[in-house]
Amino acid sequence: MCVRKALVVREKLYQVKKFLDPFKFLANAHMTSFITHNYWETLPEDIRTEASTLTADEMYEIFWLWGRDPVNFQLQTAIGKFLKDCWDLTLASELFNDLLVSEKICQEQPRSKCMSLKKNHEVNNLKEKVANICNTSKSNCVVDVGGGKGYLGTSLVLEKKIQVLSIDSKSGNTKGAAKVFERVEKRTNASTLPSPSYQHATAFVTPETNLLEIVNEKLGSSVRHQLCLTGLHVCGDLASTCIKLFVKSHAVVSLCTIGCCYNLITEKFGIDATPEKKDGFGFPLSNFLIEETYVLGRNARMIACQSIERICHERKVMNPSLFWRAALQVHLLRCLGSECEISVGRRCSKAGSLSDYFHRVQQCLEQNLQLSEKTIKELEFETCDSHDRMIKFYCLRLALAPVIETLIILDRLLYLHEKGIENAFIMKVFDGVKSPRCHAIIAMKMEGTIA
Ligand SMILES: C[S@@+](CC[C@H](N)C(=O)[O-])C[C@H]1O[C@@H](n2cnc3c(N)ncnc32)[C@H](O)[C@@H]1O
Repeated sequence: MCVRKALVVREKLYQVKKFLDPFKFLANAHMTSFITHNYWETLPEDIRTEASTLTADEMYEIFWLWGRDPVNFQLQTAIGKFLKDCWDLTLASELFNDLLVSEKICQEQPRSKCMSLKKNHEVNNLKEKVANICNTSKSNCVVDVGGGKGYLGTSLVLEKKIQVLSIDSKSGNTKGAAKVFERVEKRTNASTLPSPSYQHATAFVTPETNLLEIVNEKLGSSVRHQLCLTGLHVCGDLASTCIKLFVKSHAVVSLCTIGCCYNLITEKFGIDATPEKKDGFGFPLSNFLIEETYVLGRNARMIACQSIERICHERKVMNPSLFWRAALQVHLLRCLGSECEISVGRRCSKAGSLSDYFHRVQQCLEQNLQLSEKTIKELEFETCDSHDRMIKFYCLRLALAPVIETLIILDRLLYLHEKGIENAFIMKVFDGVKSPRCHAIIAMKMEGTIA
């Protein structure tokens, strides 16, 4: 274990956890039950009292202002303090300066025809970082796990002349990746490439996967491969899998992984945890959180997927169908006698009003929900007060998103230090508005900083 570094990360993780603990109920609140479970009353009293004096629009203004310029955000009230506290525990705050390596993020890049603006931004920034990591760690081959359509791998091969093996669990993606590579290669003068320089494999990567074996099979074994394991937006447990593989495999000498879809992570101590999954859990990784049998909860992980930077930048409001669904729940509880789990999904979210929503729900579901015009009018009247409250609750809950993400990322970093990896750090690699999941975990099994 790298004692000093582990202690530093552990202390910061402890602070994030301590702040989050009393708000975990807020993060895990199911918005469908906002009215039936009277979630409003569960807010801390000072925050609730203050929020009661605000209109929904005033709450939005405070929330957006905070999200757009958190550093200069000043509001000496309970809500102001809560928002400021949230920001102080996100990776952008100075508390984490010593864990983050800052690098310039390129904003303007030549646009490749085959990629979306978002992918273009990601690939152009990440290829530079991965190339630098390979250089510093003397990696001669990149394994792009969860490579998808292979845009990153293609750029690394054609522009940085690095050998790449792209692995994805879906054969459609692997085939797509081969086509993307061929197309871009034709447009580029790639005659100086070593052969084979780009290969792909269809495989479901687990912590038990022998990456070197696949690399040797696909790229040949005449050269001793020193692997750089990368993954751009590796969803759910795959980020943790990459980190475990890096620790375990001697052939993998460097790591650059950016997670996403935290909602898909399986939790070791979660309610859906099954003992036979053994090492396969994605969270927590660190001994510190394992000793605490720490659970985040599914809704908290869903929130962590939200992008405050983007929501506040675009001044996005709550989708009104969230409130309509909560109002419907009041009726369902009354009419069916218990909280029932009917799935309305997105089918009715395009409704124009609460009564329109109820009519659509009635049409979509085969069940007779006994939604007469009179019942709808009564429900409309009965729940109208909850509408603005729900918006305020929604904003407060969203403010936790970057804190939860910080906890997940710190847990991964701490695991690396606990396993004796000294040279591990976090780097912001994308503009958060262009690509919300923008923090990479970078690690190398040797000393050296990336150029
Ligand atoms: C969010 S996509 C990212 C794709 C690509 N890296 C990009 O940024 O364009 C995640 C990819 O990981 C793949 N994937 C998920 N779990 C996997 C696993 N255990 N092994 C291999 N691939 C996996 C999915 O099929 C998907 O293509």
